[in-house]
This record gives sequence, structure tokens and C-alpha cells, in this order.
Amino acid sequence: MRWWQTGVVYQIYPRSFADATGDGVGDLEGIRGRLDHLAWLGVDALWLSPIFRSPMKDFGYDVADYCDVDPLFGTLADFDRLLADAHARGLRVLLDWVPNHTSDQHPWFRESRASRQSPKRGWYVWRDPAPGGGPPNNWRAAFPRGTPAWTLDAATGQHYLHLFLPGQPDLDWSNPDVRRAMHEVLRFWLDRGVDGFRVDVVHGLGKDPRLPDLPPELAAIPQSALNDHESTHEILRELRRTVDAYPENRVLVGEVWLLLARTHARYFGRGDELHLLFELPAAVLTPWDAGAWRERVADVAGRLDPIGAWPTWVLSNHDVPRHRTRFGSEAAARSAAVLLLTLRGTPFLYQGEELGLEDADVPAGRAVDPGGRDGCRAPVPWDGSAGHGWPAPPWLPWPPEPERRNVERLRADPGSILHLYRRLLALRRASPALHAGSLRLLDAPARVLAYERAAGPDRRTVLVNFGAEPARCPASGRIEVASDGAGEGAAYGGVLAPGEAVVLRP
Ligand code: GLC
Repeated sequence: MRWWQTGVVYQIYPRSFADATGDGVGDLEGIRGRLDHLAWLGVDALWLSPIFRSPMKDFGYDVADYCDVDPLFGTLADFDRLLADAHARGLRVLLDWVPNHTSDQHPWFRESRASRQSPKRGWYVWRDPAPGGGPPNNWRAAFPRGTPAWTLDAATGQHYLHLFLPGQPDLDWSNPDVRRAMHEVLRFWLDRGVDGFRVDVVHGLGKDPRLPDLPPELAAIPQSALNDHESTHEILRELRRTVDAYPENRVLVGEVWLLLARTHARYFGRGDELHLLFELPAAVLTPWDAGAWRERVADVAGRLDPIGAWPTWVLSNHDVPRHRTRFGSEAAARSAAVLLLTLRGTPFLYQGEELGLEDADVPAGRAVDPGGRDGCRAPVPWDGSAGHGWPAPPWLPWPPEPERRNVERLRADPGSILHLYRRLLALRRASPALHAGSLRLLDAPARVLAYERAAGPDRRTVLVNFGAEPARCPASGRIEVASDGAGEGAAYGGVLAPGEAVVLRP
């Protein structure tokens, strides 16, 4: 098995993780200063949301130079130091590569925009206005929600396509020069030693060359949630070859965010496209309900097992409200941690979930994100002091109760959710059943999800009570980890407390 199958990935949103320079925005030196904490926690890899040069209209998902670090975050030398220090602690590092679009400030786009004859005109998707004037088709952008996915460039009289903000023009991946340039970008970072990439909006890359109108019943949905064209798969096979040419199992993890596709599994190809992918939005928006999770686990296994693909599991990220907020209680967040870290597949944690952080309440006057996602991007409180370990007031408000929910305080409390994550991560690493084994759903009472993980003689039983009542659920074994910490090391008595989850060793 590969490291990216058995390991656990921790997503860092660099702006909000840790600030070393004192400008209120997190940076690479800040991350480097906290590596010991991440090693103590017990994760295997870090995924950094974009750190490249950017005008930050979409907070780094609008890249103006793929081969340099934005000065807000530091320098290439800072990155090299971070990578070396992470590797020295056994932590791999994934970058967040944004291939679907660049910033409108990227030199490629400036040149493309300069004239219809520009050698880079064909690097982006330019079209004449519709016959009566206006955008070339009815596609909608994701941000600002509901606006056309086209912007007219008055000087050259054509529109350019952008599935996201007008400041994020879509590249034309059918153009071989674009592909060559982007493969160079990947090699630039692979040569520096990065362990792989999270690939942004991967389902956006191939576009139907006819750019057809959407049928009226779909016309209000952003094209970024619908675009699913066959030509993407050849693009992915080429990318896979570039990455697989490097030693040490570099990895491509794709963000596939599709509303209508029955399955996202086609993006694995025949084992020759993405290594891993997120099946969004289902992955992050399955409600806290035993039946819904049973169905999801069965569905993922039913689709991925036959093609030999390996699942990922994720509850929160920088685009959706945190699951602690969605599920409504710390008890549920604790049980969700047991689930996330014991399912079959690679878990992805989002910074701060191990602290049980909720979304920040961001007053209108401080909202900055064009997609309304500020709440889940609130800064990580490191200690109980007034500045919570940040040398200057951070760019977004604190999440609730930072004086209580901070790293220092929760590290000092063995009963905290932080220690629960640490125990689960240690157990997962030690148990082949949990990090590599098979999964079998077990019969269970209503509101309880039960499954067995097994690898040879190593076995675990996991029971999750989603209900607000105690649940009688027969099983035998010793409680290895309990979401509320109760009875660990003792024999399981056959009843789960309200909202409790346990890992049993038979
Ligand atoms: C992805 C990112 C999101 C970003 C968008 C455009 O969905 O996760 O944060 O805004 O792509 O790049």
C-alpha cells in the first residue's frame, strides 16, 4: 500500500494557521514554527492551500505566478526550509495547484488580453459576443453567484470565460502550449521535493469545444458545478504520467465538485488518472444521521471497490461551514472524528477541527470572501492570551470561545477533543485493520452505525451512536478509544451513551 492510502492528511489554510511576521496573516514561517505540534498530533502529510503569488481576490485561488511564493507567505527559500523541516519530521507536503484558471494579473492573461493576434490569445477561452450582443452562452459563474461566466474585454471586443470570479479567467486546456507550461509548473515543484498536489476544480479542465448553452432548467447552476467533459480524462492521464515519473509515490488528489454526476469515480480512470479524489459536495455535506452515513459508506464501497480505487473521507474544508457547526455539538464532532479516522480510505482533516472549532461569526463589516466562506477560515487560536499566539490581530475574527478552545489549553487537558484526535491517529497508525483493512457494515439498531475493519488477524469493531438516547448495541471487546473517553481499556458493556462512538478490539 502507498503512504497516501495508509496516511492521514491535514489541510492547512495558511492565512489562518500561524503568523510569524506579525501582519495578521499566517505565513510559511508560522507553519514551520508549529511543525512539532503537527508531528505530536500524529498526521502524515500536510496540504497547504495556495501559497503562490496572487492578488488574493479569491485568497490565493487566483494565481499570478505558479512558481513563486506570495510575499505575504514568505519566499521560495522559506518554502524550502519548511519542506525540509517537515520531511525531517516524517511529514509529507502537498501543494494546492489551481490549473483551471489563473489570475487576470498572470502575465499569460495580460498577454492574451493585449490583442486578438497575441500569441497567447489561445491560452484562454475567448469568444465573440452573442449575435445580438451579450455573453456567448448562458453559463453562470460561481462568484458572484448567478452572474454570467463571461466578461467583455472592451478593448478587443471579445468575452473571456471564467467559471469563478472575473479575476479568474479559465485557461484553455485544449491548447498544447498551456499543457506544456502547466506540466513545467508541476515539475518545478516536484523537483523541489513536494510530495504531490491537491488539484483544484479538476473537473473544469476539459470543456465542450462547442460551449453549448445549458438547458433552461439548469441555467441557474454555476457551470463549475456541472462541467464534466470527456476531454478532461486525457488531460488527467498526461498529468498522471508526469507525476508518476518521479520516485517516492507523489500523489494527485483532485477536487471534483459535481452536482449532477451519478459518480465521480470516472476521474480515477483505469488507475491512470487521479490517485485520490474528493467526491464533493456529498463528502462534506452528508448530514449527521446513521442512515445517511450507512448509505454513503455502502455507496462509496459499491462504486470504488470494483475498480480498485481508494476512497477519501473529509468532513470540513475551507469552502463549507465546519462540521462542528453543521452537526451542532462537540459530542457529535467527537463521534465524527471516530468515524472519519476509522473508515476505509484516506482521511483529510481541516485545521482546527481537532480543537472542535466552530465557524466564526463574521459581521458584515468584516466579511471579505466573495463566496461567503469566511466563517470556516477563522484563525487558529494557539493559546489563552489576549492575542491567542498571534503577534497582531488576525485578518478574520476568532472562532467562538478562543480562550477555552485553543491549542495550549486543550493539550493540557487529556480529556479534550484534541487528545481524542491524537489517540485515534495513534491507533489508526498502529492498526493495519484501520489503516489498510477491509470494511464490513454490521447490523445495528436504528440510529447506530456499526462496522468491522479487518486485516488478517488484526480486527476492530466501530460503533457510532448518532442518537440522543442510550443505544443497546451488542458487540464484544475492549474499548480502545471512546469519543467521550469513558471506559477506555475496559470491556465494552453493550450500551452506547447518547452520541457516543467507540472503537473495540475483539
Ligand atoms: C475550489 C477551491 C475554492 C476556490 C475555487 C476556485 O473550489 O476549493 O476555495 O474558490 O476552487 O479556485
